[in-house]
Amino acid sequence: MSVIFSGIQPSGELTLGNYLGALRNFLDYQDTDECYYCIVNQHAITVPQDPKELFHNTRSLAAIYLAAGLNPDKVTLFVQSEVPQHVQLGWIMQSISYVGELERMTQYKDKAQKQGESIPTALLTYPPLMAADILLYGTNYVPVGDDQKQHMELTRDLAERFNRRFGETFVVPEIKVSEGGARIMSLQEPTKKMSKSDDNQNATIRLLDTPDQIVKKLKRAQTDSDNAVRFDKENKPGISNLMGIYRAITKDSYEAIEEMYAGKGYGAFKSDIADLVVSTLEPLQQRYNELINSPELDKILDEGAVKAQAKASVMYDKVIHAMGLCRK
Ligand code: AQP
Repeated sequence: MSVIFSGIQPSGELTLGNYLGALRNFLDYQDTDECYYCIVNQHAITVPQDPKELFHNTRSLAAIYLAAGLNPDKVTLFVQSEVPQHVQLGWIMQSISYVGELERMTQYKDKAQKQGESIPTALLTYPPLMAADILLYGTNYVPVGDDQKQHMELTRDLAERFNRRFGETFVVPEIKVSEGGARIMSLQEPTKKMSKSDDNQNATIRLLDTPDQIVKKLKRAQTDSDNAVRFDKENKPGISNLMGIYRAITKDSYEAIEEMYAGKGYGAFKSDIADLVVSTLEPLQQRYNELINSPELDKILDEGAVKAQAKASVMYDKVIHAMGLCRK
């Protein structure tokens, strides 16, 4: 049995990218492995958040995790800020990280650019906290989208660095990127990844969008004028992205999709992919509506925090003893 950890930030309404790149894959492990799935709200505050929205988005994300099919009897589902060992170990991970390696992170560079003169320090120190999240649980595998590869490499480096300096303590985790859905791109700028914090509402499909919104957004998705459904990421990024979404849902190969739509043009393809996305999200949305205001949700998160703390405190104790950060 392996230990699995992953987290999603409650930094906005989840997108189809978050679902196909991460959340959907969390289900693969729940019957066989020891799984910890986290709502990483302390990562969300690395850019300014409205407190009321953050509160709402945290509960909403918990309901989405469950609506997607995670079973709280099988996995530990919890909120990061309710398990204090995350920031405690995050500080220790900062102490062994170098400013240079953090400044090289693409996500830091992208997000810092949007903050003008006032870049929160936590945006730079996000990766050591992410390393702490993962390492606290003795994690073997981390299912994430491929945009997280660089952070995962750093996590591995930090684990190895710590083990070299203070003795064998951490398991060095591996990334698990799903084959289909590894990176879903923006519907309006298909060379940029689909992100939940994108201000352009037409760029993202949100998991809670109505069927009507989904159909409109997919119809408006940027494509070229060639009208041929053919996978060519470099020259036809828009249609290739839509084909990627289709493939991630149906598992059909690109060749099979090309054959199915030969001579049919973008209109027919966009209409079919809209039906596919709507029917994929429908059961999730129904379950979400049942859960979002139920007391069951809080009970699951309360129990999850207790279970996560029990596990995390064992590793944290080991770390502070290895470093001499204790009296007894
Ligand atoms: N476009 C994407 N395609 C595939 N996977 C994706 N993920 C995010 N976007 C895509 C995966 O979703 C998980 C959640 O990531 P996160 O919330 O911790 O942060 P993120 O990667 O920064 O996601 P967003 O949606 O872009 O959030 P914001 O806009 O707040 O930064 C991760 O496993 C990620 O790989």
